[in-house]
Amino acid sequence: MARFTDKVVLISGGARGQGAAEARMLVAEGGRVVIGDVLEEQGRALAAELGAAARFVRQDVTRLEDWQEAVAAAEAMGGLTGMVNNAGIYVPKPLMQTDAELFERHMRVNQLGCFLGMQAVVPAMERAGGGSIVNISSTAGLRGSPGALAYSATKWALRGMTKAAAVDLAPKGIRVNSIHPGPIETDMVKVWSNEQRAVRLAQIPMGRIGLAEDVARAVLFLLSDDSAYMTGAELSVDGGASL
Ligand SMILES: NC(=O)c1ccc[n+]([C@@H]2O[C@H](COP(=O)([O-])OP(=O)(O)OC[C@H]3O[C@@H](n4cnc5c(N)ncnc54)[C@H](O)[C@@H]3O)[C@@H](O)[C@H]2O)c1
Repeated sequence: MARFTDKVVLISGGARGQGAAEARMLVAEGGRVVIGDVLEEQGRALAAELGAAARFVRQDVTRLEDWQEAVAAAEAMGGLTGMVNNAGIYVPKPLMQTDAELFERHMRVNQLGCFLGMQAVVPAMERAGGGSIVNISSTAGLRGSPGALAYSATKWALRGMTKAAAVDLAPKGIRVNSIHPGPIETDMVKVWSNEQRAVRLAQIPMGRIGLAEDVARAVLFLLSDDSAYMTGAELSVDGGASL
C-alpha cells in the first residue's frame, strides 16, 4: 500500500526546488499536498500538474495569517498529518559584509517562518490524531559554512528549535525532526560563481552535488510511519559533506 494514502502534507516554499520534488513524490505515493509559496505562477503550475491531490496557496511564511489560511486549506483536504518547513532564502555574505537588515531578513523567513509554521499546524495535527513536522536546516546548521553568516545563524536555530519542539510535542503524538542537506542543485545555489561551486564540490566525499530528489526521499521517510519512533533527530543528506 502507498505510504501516504490518507495523509495530507503542507509544504512551505513548495513551488520549486526541493519542496516541489517532495510534492511530486508524495502525490506519487498516494498523498495529498498543499503547496505554499510566494511564487504564485510556479506554485499554481505545479498544483495543476499534480491534479486533484494538490492545492496551491499563496503563502508568505513570515505572516501568521498566511499560515492559518494554508492550514485551513490542508484541513479541507482531510486531516493534516505532515508539514515540511522548507521555505528559505540564502543571500550569502561573510560576517563583515552582513548588515542588520540582511541578518533580520534571514531570521524572518528561515527562522520566524519555521516557528510560526510549527505553531500553526499543531492544533490541526492534534485534531488529526498526531503528525510529523520536518524542518529543513542545512549542513550550514551542523558546521561553519563559508561566507553565509546570517543564513548559518538561522539554520543552527532550526536545529535547536527542532529538538525543543520535539520534546514539547511528543506527548501530543507529533514528531519533529530536521534534515540537513548539503549543496543541492536548485535555483538557490545559482548565486555561486564557478569557483565557489568548485570549492563546495571539493568538500563532498561522494563527489557530486545533490539532487532535490535525494532530499525528498529523506523527507518522505521522516513524514512516513517508517520513522514512527524518531523525533528530535537530525538527518544529513549531503554526500558526506558535513563529516
Ligand atoms: N539548495 C541547497 O544547496 C540547500 C542546501 C541546504 C539547505 N537548503 C534549504 O532547502 C530549502 C529549499 O531550498 P531549495 O534548495 O529548494 O531552493 P529554492 O530557492 O528553489 O526554494 C526555496 C523556496 O522557498 C520559497 N520562499 C522564499 N521566501 C519565502 C517566503 N517568505 N514565504 C514562502 N516561501 C518562500 C521560494 O520562493 C522557493 O520556492 C531551503 O530551506 C534551503 O535553505 C538548500
